[in-house]
Amino acid sequence: MATPHIAAEPGDFAPAVLMPGDPRRAERIATQLMPDAKLVTDVRGMLGFTGTVDGRPLSVMGSGMGQPSITIYATELFSLFGVERIIRVGTCGGISSQVRLGDVIVAVGAHTTSNINQLRLPGLNFSAVASFGLVRAAVDAASSTVARSGQQTHVGMVVSDDHFYVPNPDPGWSAKLARYGVLGVEMEAAALFATAAEFGKQALAVLTVSDHLLDAEPDQPEHGHRMTPEERETRFAGALDLALAAAFS
Ligand code: HPA
Repeated sequence: MATPHIAAEPGDFAPAVLMPGDPRRAERIATQLMPDAKLVTDVRGMLGFTGTVDGRPLSVMGSGMGQPSITIYATELFSLFGVERIIRVGTCGGISSQVRLGDVIVAVGAHTTSNINQLRLPGLNFSAVASFGLVRAAVDAASSTVARSGQQTHVGMVVSDDHFYVPNPDPGWSAKLARYGVLGVEMEAAALFATAAEFGKQALAVLTVSDHLLDAEPDQPEHGHRMTPEERETRFAGALDLALAAAFS
């Protein structure tokens, strides 16, 4: 039963889906985790795989970039392919001075600059929150797995922005968000959480900090460091452990 965006049958997806933005990252995650991973869809190059991890079924599929893109895939997976939970595994920019490059953020909720959720319930400022059980499973896993590699895990709010390149017109935007406890900025979580709410399903976002908005500020030299490709992969693996713990919780 192909949809406009997913060429698969309902049984082709596992109840739990890990969802990076990049379809090639989905392929790398799937083949690393699952020797039996099979490609189940590749419409528009948005690769989706299903296999097993220690006998437990899992799917991994790209979301593309931005809230409209993840909304399309999450809607189809939740409504037509029997998917029960989607865990976004992505990167974010750091906003809070508490977070460092390579740290992991477990998002309990996502503010957004987008109108995308206002269209769902006109007149309501929808609060896009992650599923508590998935947050708890990821945070529990953090105390054992990631702590060992020296990578810090933060639990709190992020903001899902619609622009990557256009700066917010308020020059003090990120400093204000930091004061309000926002940890990082990415581009998909708020829409994913709202889509899960629409269908009574579960969602989480586990984000690796790949850059920091304070980089531009000369009095914060500790944020100037850029991750090497090796660091990126190691750090990303830490985040993946938390996402897997949530997927199988
Ligand atoms: N903005 C939005 N998304 C991101 C960023 C950013 O600075 N870094 C990583 N993902």
